Amino acid sequence: MSVVFAISNQKGGVGKTTSVVNLAGYCALAGKKTLVIDNDPQGNASSVLGSGLADKSVYEGGVPSPTRLDGLLVIPASHDLHERERSLAQGAQGRLALRSALAPYRSAFDVIFIDCPPNLSLLPMNALLACDRLILPVQCEYFAMEGMAQLLAFVQDLRDTDHQVLTLHGILLTMHDHRHPLCRDVEAQIRQHFGAKTFATTIPRDVALAAAPSHGKTILEHDPLSAGGIAYLAAAKELIDGLE
Ligand SMILES: Nc1ncnc2c1ncn2[C@@H]1O[C@H](COP(=O)(O)OP(=O)(O)OP(=O)(O)O)[C@@H](O)[C@H]1O
Ligand SMILES: [Mg+2]
Repeated sequence: MSVVFAISNQKGGVGKTTSVVNLAGYCALAGKKTLVIDNDPQGNASSVLGSGLADKSVYEGGVPSPTRLDGLLVIPASHDLHERERSLAQGAQGRLALRSALAPYRSAFDVIFIDCPPNLSLLPMNALLACDRLILPVQCEYFAMEGMAQLLAFVQDLRDTDHQVLTLHGILLTMHDHRHPLCRDVEAQIRQHFGAKTFATTIPRDVALAAAPSHGKTILEHDPLSAGGIAYLAAAKELIDGLE
């Protein structure tokens, strides 16, 4: 059975999609059968992984399609994922649609990553109710802690109301700049508060990571020896070690 990770943070632009595609890429490189589910109407993960938007998202029976990387498949977002979210809101089982859609794939993959949009709407709720573990990418900045508290309270609500058993797998510090005192402060506070739940690896702010999507590539295809490439490799190794 696979381990399903939701990569979620309601704050925008904190490195969710960058983390999904690159952690997934390195998991596939390490020989893990890996699936990415693009659960964000923006479709950013779909475009990096080469497929673009599809006719059917995972909610309408969209199926895994191959990427350029061996062992990595993607179920892209669809053009109408926004509208789909509205129809989910009308059905009684709308919160559990992704969990049901995912069930047939759990035995075929070792790791499944679900990318999420930057909000706390039904799409991330579906991801949180479909996953086993949450990865929370956090940009080291002043408002980061408040955002985290909000998301973790939301997760606690799902545990209480839906008896969901998801655990916080890890907080991944992204766009890190160790020369910046505020960034070091935020990192220290997060490590103090969350201890071993924080990835030891931090992801640096790196131009290669920013440029890779404009070439439609993961960092392992674009520039694996960049600081960002080396960091995501190390973070993926931590993640894989944590599965065993
Ligand atoms: N470590 C990094 N260094 C430099 N640029 C980065 C880094 N991580 C991500 N970026 C860039 O920052 C922008 C936001 O990253 P990304 O799309 O991964 O965030 P997101 O949380 O998925 O955004 P959204 O909330 O819109 O889905 C992108 O242009 C991306 O290429
Ligand atoms: Mg994104």
